[in-house]
Amino acid sequence: MSTKNVIEIKNLVKQFSVGEGYFTALQSVDLSLAEGEFVGLVGPSGSGKTTLLNIIGGLDSATHGSVNVLDKSIEKTSHNERAEIRRKNMGFIFQSYNLLPVYTVYENVELPLILNNVEKTDRVKKVTQAIEWVGLQDKINSKPAQMSGGECQRTAIARAIVHEPALLLADEPTANLDAENSHNIMKILSKLNTEMSTSFVFATHDEKIMGYLKRIIHLEDGRILNDKKISIPKFS
Ligand SMILES: Nc1ncnc2c1ncn2[C@@H]1O[C@H](COP(=O)(O)OP(=O)(O)O)[C@@H](O)[C@H]1O
Ligand SMILES: [Mg+2]
Repeated sequence: MSTKNVIEIKNLVKQFSVGEGYFTALQSVDLSLAEGEFVGLVGPSGSGKTTLLNIIGGLDSATHGSVNVLDKSIEKTSHNERAEIRRKNMGFIFQSYNLLPVYTVYENVELPLILNNVEKTDRVKKVTQAIEWVGLQDKINSKPAQMSGGECQRTAIARAIVHEPALLLADEPTANLDAENSHNIMKILSKLNTEMSTSFVFATHDEKIMGYLKRIIHLEDGRILNDKKISIPKFS
């Protein structure tokens, strides 16, 4: 197994301008993530989880410090290059699913492959496989409005993994789900992490999902309070 780091962040500071001054959302953040990790950024609302995830995903930039993701220095890549890295090598899962309402499950999951110019026969194979992964074969032609929250989130997971990204970023993926669906989602993601080499970073303050994490990084007021590896997660 490779020991290459997927994420290497040193002395990251993120400030937002607010009125005349600025607000420091992240300070002195150092973070290394090896391939295949399953890590949670955990902390109260406002602690900087989403800000850190957005910087890792290249959706926002650091004020100071160095950020390397998938062997690329984020500050040295252009906007277009970052978009390409996201499209090819990253998958995103959000609390609000972000599915296209006029598209079916199949079409929503297919979209990243169309954007990556994957040819039709390959697309059919990959979309079918991703939908099987999340157990939605019987909903393949349904639209988001006809499905439960859990099914929508499973569709969003299939869309996030269909192009087999190296890094999967999830922002509060279980925040809108009940306990049963949250456990279901975490079981699917744990299995993906074990069976593919995909690395996962979650932002969460959901107690229900903590037992699945293999490493927990506690954030508070924009700083890392502690960083713990869990040798045997409670669930998997
Ligand atoms: N664009 C912005 N402008 C100003 N402040 C922001 C902006 N985005 C986030 N913040 C502030 O940064 C802090 C961290 O926010 P966030 O990363 O969203 O926290 P979390 O995801 O842990 O709830 C919060 O105090 C938030 O209000
Ligand atoms: Mg957040």
